[in-house]
Amino acid sequence: MKRALITGASGGIGFEVAERLSQLDYQLTLVARNEQNLKAVQKLLGSGHDILVADLTNKEDLQKVSEHLSENKYDVLVNNAGTGLYGEFTKLPLDEQLSIMNLNMDALVTLSHAYLQNATSGDALINIGSLLAHSSFPGGAVYAGTKSFVANFSESLWYEFKNKGVFVAGFNPGAADSDFHRNAGKNTHAFPKFVVSNVGDVADELVAALKKRQKPRIVQGFKNRLMMFGFKFLSRKMAVNIMGMISPGISH
Ligand SMILES: NC(=O)c1ccc[n+]([C@@H]2O[C@H](COP(=O)([O-])OP(=O)(O)OC[C@H]3O[C@@H](n4cnc5c(N)ncnc54)[C@H](OP(=O)(O)O)[C@@H]3O)[C@@H](O)[C@H]2O)c1
Repeated sequence: MKRALITGASGGIGFEVAERLSQLDYQLTLVARNEQNLKAVQKLLGSGHDILVADLTNKEDLQKVSEHLSENKYDVLVNNAGTGLYGEFTKLPLDEQLSIMNLNMDALVTLSHAYLQNATSGDALINIGSLLAHSSFPGGAVYAGTKSFVANFSESLWYEFKNKGVFVAGFNPGAADSDFHRNAGKNTHAFPKFVVSNVGDVADELVAALKKRQKPRIVQGFKNRLMMFGFKFLSRKMAVNIMGMISPGISH
């Protein structure tokens, strides 16, 4: 039986991915902070799955998960846990923005390092970035910065590991209808309806990409890929002006 560890598996995209991988007979280890939510997901998925309660912004907890990855063999790691915060840079508390960097980058790098040291041919690492990896995002400047990092980091690792038969990719979803936006201070109503994907569809694409194992950088959703294509014809200045105008994090 194959094994996968998923961070941020108690809700949103992580939960949907967990559900699909369990249907593909993966034995899962689910990581998040809220034990009750993790236990509820564990129960829902049926027997044979484990949970690891950890706040990945906490040094000791991160070390615990990292050691777990070093001591246990997994076929797949999905670094999915991530948070953001809407608002203008100097109006948001610095410590909360540093904590986002901590989770979205430091924890992701630490777990990738632990995992890839043991990885053998056939294994896969998927890091969750964002469509915002490809553009700046006024009103979410730090978040967009972390996601650019994830996309570039993952792409470099794709190259380093491709000849070892280990697949590494950055998977970049567009806006999806999880709790993410509410936790970040807004909700998905802040976006035009047509740009918001269903988390189940996002997870379907992630699992399809995991099966195909082709691209180092995957952009989720046809409309998101179309949007990115359109942006290629704009100057950077025009693009950032548009992002600023539509951002729920800017008071207009
Ligand atoms: N939703 C979107 O529109 C969207 C778009 C692009 C990219 N993404 C990315 O997709 C990933 C998943 O987001 P989502 O939309 O599914 O968000 P979500 O519904 O808010 O779920 C986030 C998950 O991460 C866990 N988590 C949060 N902070 C954590 C911490 N410090 N340590 C460990 N686990 C933590 C949460 O559980 P606990 O609270 O119990 O810890 C939860 O399981 C993130 O990386 C996000 O940046 C989302």
